[in-house]
Amino acid sequence: MMKLHVAAAASLLLALAATAGAVTFTTTNEASNTTGGQRFDQAVGLAYANQVLYNASTFIWSTFNQTSLADRKPVDAITLVVADVPGVAFTSDDNITLGAQYVGDYSGDVKTEVSGVLFHETTHVWQWNGQGQANPGLIEGIADYVRLKAGYPARGWVQPGQGDRWDDGYAVTARFLDYLDSLKPGFVALLNAKMKYGYTDDFFAQILGKSVQELWQKYKAKYA
Ligand SMILES: *[C@@H]1O[C@H](CO)[C@@H](O)[C@H](O)[C@H]1NC(C)=O
Ligand SMILES: *[C@@H]1O[C@H](CO)[C@@H](O)[C@H](O)[C@H]1NC(C)=O
Ligand SMILES: *[C@@H]1O[C@H](CO)[C@@H](O)[C@H](O)[C@H]1NC(C)=O
Ligand SMILES: *[C@@H]1O[C@H](CO)[C@@H](O)[C@H](O)[C@H]1NC(C)=O
Repeated sequence: MMKLHVAAAASLLLALAATAGAVTFTTTNEASNTTGGQRFDQAVGLAYANQVLYNASTFIWSTFNQTSLADRKPVDAITLVVADVPGVAFTSDDNITLGAQYVGDYSGDVKTEVSGVLFHETTHVWQWNGQGQANPGLIEGIADYVRLKAGYPARGWVQPGQGDRWDDGYAVTARFLDYLDSLKPGFVALLNAKMKYGYTDDFFAQILGKSVQELWQKYKAKYA
């Protein structure tokens, strides 16, 4: 009896682990009674957005060089909700909220823009944040770095070499990270891996042998 119990418990655990390995993606539109929500349904669609969440996740694991499940953040499910809220989008834990008003007001190819926004937000789900200690500009820069590498830079982004501070965030930091990754391919993956346990700007020096300020000076000089 005891043995059977143990065997049953073991197989139950295996089944749970297998389920945990497969991430579930769910997209819903809670704003379909608004003009922005209707534009989302017409120009993007639930199925397409859900596919972007999946594609973004596999792209992020590859960018972060997380070939095994053990390397990744333990996330079972990602939800996307299109909601009648101000702002572009935000991510809380594993839930992404996309602003229907933004979708409604965007002039241009909204399907491509939403794809780029979702690559950025999905990065927030998967990236490490240094146990909450990481530089916020760096967090946003890594999310836009992924968006850039996926081929979805937003209209109006700064060009390489632009910006005043390495941790200004978003595209400024993304362009800088792209430069650093060209110095050492896989740099962003190594940086993210270090950010699992904590954060210090010294991570840049640990990986590249120069402080982040020195690296920023070199980057600015290259494009001067
Ligand atoms: C849309 O529906 C929600 C929930 O029923 C409601 O709270 C909201 O006021 C509606 N918005 C519009 C623009 O009709
Ligand atoms: C997802 O990726 C596949 C494979 O690269 C591609 O064929 C497909 O068009 C992508 N779908 C979306 C919605 O980005
Ligand atoms: C995320 O979504 C799940 C499922 O809808 C919910 O249980 C959870 O409370 C949400 N978390 C946050 C931080 O919004
Ligand atoms: C990716 O990670 C593997 C170990 O899991 C390592 O051997 C390899 O060098 C890494 N690739 C890069 C580009 O850092």
